[in-house]
Amino acid sequence: MDVPSNQHEARLRSEELRSQLNYHNYRYYVLDNPVITDGEYDELMNELRAIEARYPELITPDSPTQKTGAEPLASTFEVVDHRVPLLSLSNCFSDDELQAWYRRAMDRLDADGAQLVSEPKIDGLAMALVYENGQFVQGATRGDGAHGENVTANLRTIATIPKSLTGRVPERFEVRGEVYMSRSGFERMNAAIGDLNLEREREGRKPLPIYANPRNAAAGSVRQKDATVTAGRPLSMFVYQLGWVEGGARPDSHHETLLWLKELGFPVNPEARLHSSLEDAAARIRWWGDQRERIDYDIDGTVLKFDDLDAWATLGAVGREPRWATAFKFPPQQRTTKLREIAVNVGRTGVLTPFAVLEPVVVGGATVSLATLHNEGDIRRKDIRVGDTVIVQRAGEVIPQVVAPVPSLRTGDEVEFAMPAACPSCGTPVSRDESEAAVYCPNLSCPTQQVRLLEHFASRGAMDIEGLGEKMAYTLFRAGLVTTIADVYDLGAERLAEFEEFRTRDGRLSKVAENLLAGIEKSKSRPLPNVLFALGIRHVGYETARVLAERFGGLAAVLDADAEALQGVEGIGPIVARSIADWTARGENRAVVERLVASGVDPHVTPRAAAEAGTLTGLTLVVTGRLETMSRSEAEERIREAGGKVGSGVSKSTTALVAGADAGSKLAKAQQLGVRVVDEEAFVRLLAEGPAGVLQVV
Ligand code: IVH
Repeated sequence: MDVPSNQHEARLRSEELRSQLNYHNYRYYVLDNPVITDGEYDELMNELRAIEARYPELITPDSPTQKTGAEPLASTFEVVDHRVPLLSLSNCFSDDELQAWYRRAMDRLDADGAQLVSEPKIDGLAMALVYENGQFVQGATRGDGAHGENVTANLRTIATIPKSLTGRVPERFEVRGEVYMSRSGFERMNAAIGDLNLEREREGRKPLPIYANPRNAAAGSVRQKDATVTAGRPLSMFVYQLGWVEGGARPDSHHETLLWLKELGFPVNPEARLHSSLEDAAARIRWWGDQRERIDYDIDGTVLKFDDLDAWATLGAVGREPRWATAFKFPPQQRTTKLREIAVNVGRTGVLTPFAVLEPVVVGGATVSLATLHNEGDIRRKDIRVGDTVIVQRAGEVIPQVVAPVPSLRTGDEVEFAMPAACPSCGTPVSRDESEAAVYCPNLSCPTQQVRLLEHFASRGAMDIEGLGEKMAYTLFRAGLVTTIADVYDLGAERLAEFEEFRTRDGRLSKVAENLLAGIEKSKSRPLPNVLFALGIRHVGYETARVLAERFGGLAAVLDADAEALQGVEGIGPIVARSIADWTARGENRAVVERLVASGVDPHVTPRAAAEAGTLTGLTLVVTGRLETMSRSEAEERIREAGGKVGSGVSKSTTALVAGADAGSKLAKAQQLGVRVVDEEAFVRLLAEGPAGVLQVV
């Protein structure tokens, strides 16, 4: 491995390596779908380490070399099913958005005003803690909301989390909150690690990771394999919500809940306030704008929640976001840097998107070297030129953006940007779509489009073909084995074995090829929403695909629907409807779908599909008594369709009992066990909206 001999080259190469490693970390840790082998990953990492050892001034705090080992594999921890999913929050970025959120809620509640509670939005990790008979028995991360990781042993080491409660408490209950690391604790910890590393360096040992920001440090610390390591980390927790409760009462309002939790000994944020009106709450939000630096932990906004828990039940949730709460986010962080180049990407639907190649700059704790520029019109409007000093911003987890140039710093050498007239991948003259301000390559066989589409087709949430990631997509395409997505299903052992990269040294089919074929075979039974999403139709994300699947019930029916029929579907607007109709009108696309079906791709709404997308996934319901609008067996069928389980008797593992008229012993049993009882009306809402608004609150 060659370390560049001058600092300039070393810097360029280390930036490149960092961005590659970050990408592979994302594939590995977040998507759980790596595209390179561990060996290849290690090579990249070693090269970066070697450069950083020779040029320590190039080390950035967020370099992957500083992070590896910090986050152990998810598989280290046991999976916990959350009885009631952990939701996320909608965001507001302006007063207008806040007013709109409030008004929508007032309309639904048919009220003129309501009390609100404001709390700082802690930038840490959401956790769910379970207490049984006053003892802390389980702590789990939020995970995907439905399943988290069991990190009980690590949470036991956090001093502010009570291990046992005194006084009268419900038999079993869950509290939710945020584990975080204070800023001062973070600085101290990194300084101590720095000192330790000097010592380790002298002894020739590997340095310990330095964390980029308190949030990463908290995440890394909570997910340590060894709880004694966590114990040495300055972690704390704020509890902000009572989850489910069995065998005991709960307060009627959020503010009272916070007071009650505090009385029980939970760490509740002292900055929470009760407000009599939205104006009052908005004043507190403005106050936070200046005060955020005053407190010793990172916050990224203010959370507003309605105080009345009946209002929570009435308002429910849209998707994963409750209507009864929202986060007012602080304005994003901004920095200036040089715009080196404007490059152009070809996406899977052919849209050409310009993006900024920047001189790397640290914004809000992360190094940014690439940023979106939206489209050509946007670049013109903002008058962004290559060579400009530009303002770059990053808000939360979103992709960094170029906000504006700084014209006063121009030298006169800056160059205006023009979209290429031909596709950078295939050379076909580009088309313009005036209404959407988009430029795209109209060539359906454009190689970059095809590869991107293939990658998308095989990805999670689409056909989920194990073994077919970005790298494999390129390999198959380059070898000429796959040019359209339908070719995937023509791949067989014999065909693959013709290629050296799919053979072992003694000429047999390699393990990689075998896995690929198995993954392809398995993908044939993907549910309809996944298949529709996989086709890569412009504007059709998973959610739209799900709506289409639900409305049309089969692939053929979607293909035959015209723009008018499509637009009649709730949630599908004219642009999306047009885009689908244009897609299905093209013979090439219909041919691809026909080939997929002929190859055995059999998309229908299977019970598995319902379970994956269902509102009741992970919940067990029992139905008893006489219902007004449906028979009991219909009710049970609908529970199964929504992905839920139907229990025959009430037990501790029952999520809720649906009780109609004249309910008998099951109702008594549920009451005795403290199992939630819902009436028919609540049940219908539960089917439609999931448990968030209905079951979280009694
Ligand atoms: S309420 C639906 N309150 O923000 C209720 N969340 O963006 C969601 N968070 O996953 C939780 N401080 O990790 C709530 N005072 C607070 C919070 C808070 C931080 C986090 C939480 C949640 C995320 C949603």
